[in-house]
Amino acid sequence: MTNPSDATLVIIPTYNELENLPLIVGRVRAATPEVDILIVDDNSPDGTGKKADELAAEDNHISVLHREGKGGLCGAYVAGFRWGLEAGYTVLCEMDADGSHAPEQLHLLLAEVDDGADLVIGSRYVPGGRVVNWPKNRLVLSKGGNAYISLMLGGGLSDMTAGYRAYRREVLEAMDLEELSDAGYIFQVDLAWRAVQAGFDVREVPITFTEREIGESKLDGSFVKDSLFEVTRWGLSHRAGQLTEFAKVAKGMIGYEYNRWQRMRHR
Ligand code: GDD
Ligand code: MN
Repeated sequence: MTNPSDATLVIIPTYNELENLPLIVGRVRAATPEVDILIVDDNSPDGTGKKADELAAEDNHISVLHREGKGGLCGAYVAGFRWGLEAGYTVLCEMDADGSHAPEQLHLLLAEVDDGADLVIGSRYVPGGRVVNWPKNRLVLSKGGNAYISLMLGGGLSDMTAGYRAYRREVLEAMDLEELSDAGYIFQVDLAWRAVQAGFDVREVPITFTEREIGESKLDGSFVKDSLFEVTRWGLSHRAGQLTEFAKVAKGMIGYEYNRWQRMRHR
């Protein structure tokens, strides 16, 4: 029997992850030796790209995509998705390089894809999900942000900003990747939301997210404000669309009742 996950690519974007890269690559290779890895490096000043080339030279499961300079996480993933689709992979995964996403849990995501899901999100906020080593304020912000997002958009997901994912190639092929909102990490919400709207089977599995021990986060404060603004805009236009649909149905029903009433009156 063949499963979609038989041809899986794990995309690992890097920007200044020199110390983390060999660790994460080693863990992926040990946990899931059958999957391939694509490192997408944005010309990291600390030499991560050169380290990536060294790792790839020793192991034909590893490839490297070099980009000219820091172009943001969204652009790095879009470049990685294109590369992986072109190469014919049936499942494409997102994974951070800093150890926050445990390679030892990747099989949980892949099992769900093989069970029929189109997009699987490794979720911190479904029962069984966990966050380790985040200060209280970041947890509150992330949880609150996600609660707001799901309130605004519906869709029934608890962790739409999450960055540990497995996509069946059909999901990515159905999206116009050029159109994604790339302010901060909002493209993650954008991708999940588009998948839900397109009718794909989007599922969450609980994971343990562990804050990095080495290096720095590239998240800046403006992300939260920009993201919530975007989501509010999407939510409002989605609701407006629902209202228009509702209005059409209501108009039809009222018209029908009115005509019936007219006929009764003139009988
Ligand atoms: N190539 C490339 N270019 N890689 C980048 C860039 C970039 O411009 N910016 C960040 N990265 C890489 C990092 O090197 C790391 O491997 C990964 O992307 C995540 O970056 P972090 O800076 O560690 O992100 P985070 O921990 O703040 O955010 C995580 O959680 C968010 C939700 O809370 C990520 O998983 C996000 O995807 C997620 O939305
Ligand atoms: Mn991180």
